[in-house]
Amino acid sequence: MTTVDLSTAPYLDSRLSVDERVADLLGRMTLPEKVGQMMQLDAREDLDEIVHGRHAGSILHTSPAKVLQAAALTAQTRLRIPLLVAEDCIHGHSFWEGATIFPTQLGMAATWDTDLVEQVARATAAEVAATGIHWTFSPVLCIARDLRWGRVDETFGEDPFLIGELASAMVRGYQGDGLDDPDAILATAKHFAGYSETQGGRDASEADISRRKLRSWFLPPFERVAREGCRTFMLGYQTTDGVPITVNDWLLSDVLRGEWGYTGTLITDWDNIGRMVWEQKVQPDYAHAAAAAVKAGNDMVMTTPKFFEGALEAVASGLLDEADIDRAVARVLSLKFRFGLFENPRLPDPERIESVIASGAHTDLNLEVARRSLVLLRNDGTLPLGSASGSGSRRIAVVGPLADDAQTQLGDWAGSSGQVDWMPDGHPRGQITTVLDGLRTLVAADWSVEHADGAGILELTDDPAGVFPDGQPRPPIVVPSEPDAAQIAEAVAVAERSDVVVAVVGDRIELVGEGRSTATLELIGGQRALLEALAAAGTPLVVVLLASKPLVLPDAVRDASLVWVANPGMRGGQAIAELLLGIIEPAGRLPISFARHAGQQPTYYNQIRGQHGDRYADLTQEPAFAFGDGLSYSTVEYSALEVLSPVVRRGETVRARVRVANTGDRPAHEVVQVYVRDAVTSVSWADRELKAYRHVDLAPGQSAVVDLEVPVADCTIVDAAGRRIVEPGAFELLVGPSSRAEALLSSEFIVEA
Ligand code: NOJ
Repeated sequence: MTTVDLSTAPYLDSRLSVDERVADLLGRMTLPEKVGQMMQLDAREDLDEIVHGRHAGSILHTSPAKVLQAAALTAQTRLRIPLLVAEDCIHGHSFWEGATIFPTQLGMAATWDTDLVEQVARATAAEVAATGIHWTFSPVLCIARDLRWGRVDETFGEDPFLIGELASAMVRGYQGDGLDDPDAILATAKHFAGYSETQGGRDASEADISRRKLRSWFLPPFERVAREGCRTFMLGYQTTDGVPITVNDWLLSDVLRGEWGYTGTLITDWDNIGRMVWEQKVQPDYAHAAAAAVKAGNDMVMTTPKFFEGALEAVASGLLDEADIDRAVARVLSLKFRFGLFENPRLPDPERIESVIASGAHTDLNLEVARRSLVLLRNDGTLPLGSASGSGSRRIAVVGPLADDAQTQLGDWAGSSGQVDWMPDGHPRGQITTVLDGLRTLVAADWSVEHADGAGILELTDDPAGVFPDGQPRPPIVVPSEPDAAQIAEAVAVAERSDVVVAVVGDRIELVGEGRSTATLELIGGQRALLEALAAAGTPLVVVLLASKPLVLPDAVRDASLVWVANPGMRGGQAIAELLLGIIEPAGRLPISFARHAGQQPTYYNQIRGQHGDRYADLTQEPAFAFGDGLSYSTVEYSALEVLSPVVRRGETVRARVRVANTGDRPAHEVVQVYVRDAVTSVSWADRELKAYRHVDLAPGQSAVVDLEVPVADCTIVDAAGRRIVEPGAFELLVGPSSRAEALLSSEFIVEA
């Protein structure tokens, strides 16, 4: 192989245009170097082979030590093309020991707060960029509609409008002031598109979804961030209409690149190309699979090592033109040039690491997001428990297997959640506040806090099926723990000698994540029996459901006070303790509905009109808690909804106002929700859809008139031909504290033709 005189190579001259540099560099690359440039490989494997043997363009899952090693190896390559280093930094810098771990995406969604989410992404980007990582595989824009799916926690919930708002904020936060910003990292919109529309919640199963349904609800959040400049898109694992997304020409070429004019980088998900061969069995071999994927417009191939041989063979046998590979490589190289990696490979910077990782500001922000993510779902008057001082001494029983489980509190994609091998013990315990820690720290000196686990959740056993055909390990099988009479008796004894019981129950990482969907939504193991025994004990009971996704609670606690906490990050325990004690007010709202039973799936609020009746013979269809639900410690009343522009045209804005009054004696943080119902549509459509919301803080006794606006252009349906249109006629503006029809005030407006 010829060596290159790099002192005069035009592609290293930053005064030339990106196009000129790409053309020069492409002209110097061998076919194997080009194929390698399209590959992203797993840095936990042999780095020397990855960089020198495969000429990889990118790596992921790179330990801190290996980031430096990879850079050193790259400096020895013929053309010294810098690597793009990628990682799943999904709710913080997931796999950097001691980085700030925020609430999961679903937890962030419960804040309904775009500013806060943007700040989280900014803080994450600063921590990530300092450590030599350039690219995060976040945010997730999938719509969570089946609660059995294992990845509900990674989403912003069930509503396309809220998803679009929050995803856009997150992309802005990651990408900062553009590619010159030293704190910017590349964002990824994933998993394009329809991946969450599983069969029975089974991860990555065929998404049986029509183009109209995609255009109606699944594509709009993606379209928004594509047009707003999200630099990369990741393609889902699944097939739709029989075609893997990786080779779905309609979605990739017609819609994404065509209609939306997207010029960013497309990356496959993990071994999508191999899966077409060994799992979906829609390609006979790696040469055909590689050819199909390149022709469909993929730029970067995640962890399909055999893509290398496959693509070379495809070119040799005429299945693929080298020009097709050139187009993809040119896009990867352009990104690297635009990001300035040839001038500055953005290596780890010890000084910045020291100053930004888990900085005071990030830790404070983390606490604030955790506070705002807590959703009070029911209160029988037990909450708040009282101020931390001056309300008489109280004895608090803190019971349940999750009351003091620090790593579980962080959720998936964090430390020891299973994706990387260099943090087996997770994040430093000292940085994490559990519920038990929080209560112990915050109660008044004359209060007591006593703890008992009360139940186990699960044990694990190896899957007898062994490894997957691609050699990846299968997740172990969950065996629910049997209720343990002695453990329960101990917890009940603690409850009986206490004034109040805080039971912290939920799920664990073994029940969450890729390939870990659940058939049921019940609490697993001894937790149900524990709650039943605690309810029977008669001490006032508060259930803290610390769960990655909505779960179903036993009937015995159907009247107990209830707080839902998605995995709330490192400061979660403090935030929860503050809420229970009444130091802060509840402010979160559900970004996703809770079912009463797994058999009710799906329970999302924006369902299409039309079915026989409105219930099952043996159960209501009503969710246990609906999208938008969330109480405060006060009472809030809505009145006097008035549409100020009852007749509008396309291009105009519906203006309205509503009075919101805090009728209780504590401050309230209200999320005023605005839904639109289109009275008659030419094709079936959702009964109501969220179109706007406003945050309002109200002091006790205070009321406010809140101005509301919905552009008529947003009052759309998707017609039978797949076109998004506004149909003239009568509409209702629905305003209130939740998506529940009975909670909403209604006023009509007309859209004129
Ligand atoms: C597979 C997951 O589906 C995706 O979300 C993630 O970004 C990649 N693996 C990389 O870890």
